Amino acid sequence: MALVSPSILSADFGNLDRDIKMINASRADMIHIDVMDGVFVPNISIGFPAIKSIAKVAEKPLDVHLMIVDPGRYVSQIRDCGASIMNVHYEACTHLHRVVQQIKDAGMKAAVTLNPATPVVMLEDIAPDLDMVLLMSVNPGFGGQKFIPEILNKTKRLRRLLDETKSKALIEIDGGVNLSTGADLMAAGADILVAGNFVFSSENPLDTISRLKDL
Ligand code: DX5
Ligand code: ZN
Repeated sequence: MALVSPSILSADFGNLDRDIKMINASRADMIHIDVMDGVFVPNISIGFPAIKSIAKVAEKPLDVHLMIVDPGRYVSQIRDCGASIMNVHYEACTHLHRVVQQIKDAGMKAAVTLNPATPVVMLEDIAPDLDMVLLMSVNPGFGGQKFIPEILNKTKRLRRLLDETKSKALIEIDGGVNLSTGADLMAAGADILVAGNFVFSSENPLDTISRLKDL
């Protein structure tokens, strides 16, 4: 059974309260929040005040995905916003080991994200310290993009690396997830599926989340 993290990037930002309550009532395991700075990725989304407001309504852990340069600058602010998981990009951290320790010291789960072109071997030395690894299955910055099929093999390679390094990190996949790519990802060794467009553009988001859960 998959863990499911619906991405509110595809929610209706004018009706966030309604959409967060829908996730509360669903079988989702967490809520995925995408933060973009317009520099690390060519788009801007939401920041601290919005995350705080979401946290007031949310009844599931907040899985905060930071697509920003040098995310280590904001560890305490992200914690104070109510995040349970802080997800930083490998490509955005010069001193990744330090950032991971700071996230854990702040009482959050530490997750590292890899862009599609970054090989899993880059995490070999830090894998045992991580609670989660997020593989991007699209280039970050936008919802509703097409899944990159090579990520299936990458998921298998990551599974092997985590086993070899005795890491307990969960594997999360983000981008272009639907029932078909989701099933393939679960077979490849994924634990958590992020889904934005597929959930929020569906006629019955509650049912869509439930179907993803059952993969
Ligand atoms: C993309 C974001 C994703 C996005 C996924 O940069 O990190 O979380 O919301 O969207 P879908 O599921 O629509 O591909
Ligand atoms: Zn994301």
